[in-house]
Amino acid sequence: MYPQIFSAAREVDQAFLIILGFSVLILVLVTVCMLWFLWRYNFRRSPRAADIRGNVWAEIIWTALPTAIVLGLFWTGWTSFKAMRTIPEGAMEVQVEARMWSWKFTYENGKTSPELFIPLDVPVKLALSSRDVIHSFYIPAMRVKWDMVPGMETDAWIQSDTLGEYDIFCSEYCGLRHANMITKLKVLPGEDFETWLNAAPGEATKPRGLTVMEEFGCFDCHAMDGTGDIAPPLNDIAGTTRTIILPGGEKRSVTVDAGYLKRAISNPGAEIVDGFGDDMPPYEGDMSGEDMDAAVNYLLGLDEGGAPLAAPVHPGLRLAEEEGCLMCHVTSGDSTEDAPSLDGLYGSEIRGRVSGEEQTGVADDAHLHTSIVDPSAWVADGYDDVMPAYDDLDEETLEGLVSFIKSLGGSR
Ligand code: CUA
Repeated sequence: MYPQIFSAAREVDQAFLIILGFSVLILVLVTVCMLWFLWRYNFRRSPRAADIRGNVWAEIIWTALPTAIVLGLFWTGWTSFKAMRTIPEGAMEVQVEARMWSWKFTYENGKTSPELFIPLDVPVKLALSSRDVIHSFYIPAMRVKWDMVPGMETDAWIQSDTLGEYDIFCSEYCGLRHANMITKLKVLPGEDFETWLNAAPGEATKPRGLTVMEEFGCFDCHAMDGTGDIAPPLNDIAGTTRTIILPGGEKRSVTVDAGYLKRAISNPGAEIVDGFGDDMPPYEGDMSGEDMDAAVNYLLGLDEGGAPLAAPVHPGLRLAEEEGCLMCHVTSGDSTEDAPSLDGLYGSEIRGRVSGEEQTGVADDAHLHTSIVDPSAWVADGYDDVMPAYDDLDEETLEGLVSFIKSLGGSR
């Protein structure tokens, strides 16, 4: 069976196997009886049918046995159902909101996310609700599937004993893009989960190199703002040129790269930066190779793997992910058959239908606003009128989305 990560749902698998076992047993029994009857009571062996009227024992057995089997099956189903219905006291609560065609998870501290993050081995209560039509919240790895009916809040709970990433599906047909209602369940170690939960939206986690440098006290002497009396500043140094003095007094110029920085940390006295004293202790042996790599990557403006840091992300991107815009729209490249691309949309000439009539226009601020709040008012050429109206967004979210779309404008 598909791997299972929710211990309370182990009994669901058990119930399934028991029911499957009984079904196979009864199938075999019925088939064997049938074949035996065919052979034993065929016309040649029994040319004349016996006229049997009533058999108390047979009647008792065929009433009692199936009743016992059915009650037994009910019992296995009932205990597993009960385990999944009994939400442990003090479970962490997460609001799960479904809409056509996206998911939104809201945590107790107000944090929202388009994916479900949970800590390992901690019970999580889910408060399920739908904003529009009937959806169904389904995590195959947890054997959890609950309908989400508009106007009704349903409770469920989950808990994972395994780290990792698992699928979340909508399992109730909810319109044209039902198949797009896919997201992830991410099970993190408790500490990582806390870090994620308390990080401000969009805030990058602190680079490891920065932590290393703080721990080793680098900033007691070095500054990150271009100033420095006792030690050279360390901001924006990647690729710059420095004059250094070798122990013999010879001056030389070096380019700041990973090799130089490692030498400068391991044994600073061998290459003293011109204008500064030989005050820094050598960190060779003190600082592990991993810590040094992290510090060097941080100083060179690289991420922990040594790759260039990604450009800062527009805050509206998070909103667009959360509201599910990106389930249908793309933000770079050509339009898909699902929806017009948002890339270069702002300020471009557009063609569409207003109440069925062909029109041309410009994708300006007002157009973007209307297209989100009341998408049926202008249906882009080549598309059907399928986008749900986002008329319940607050002003701030709406502005954020519009500004995000504008930030993609004019790129082609
Ligand atoms: Cu929501 Cu299918």
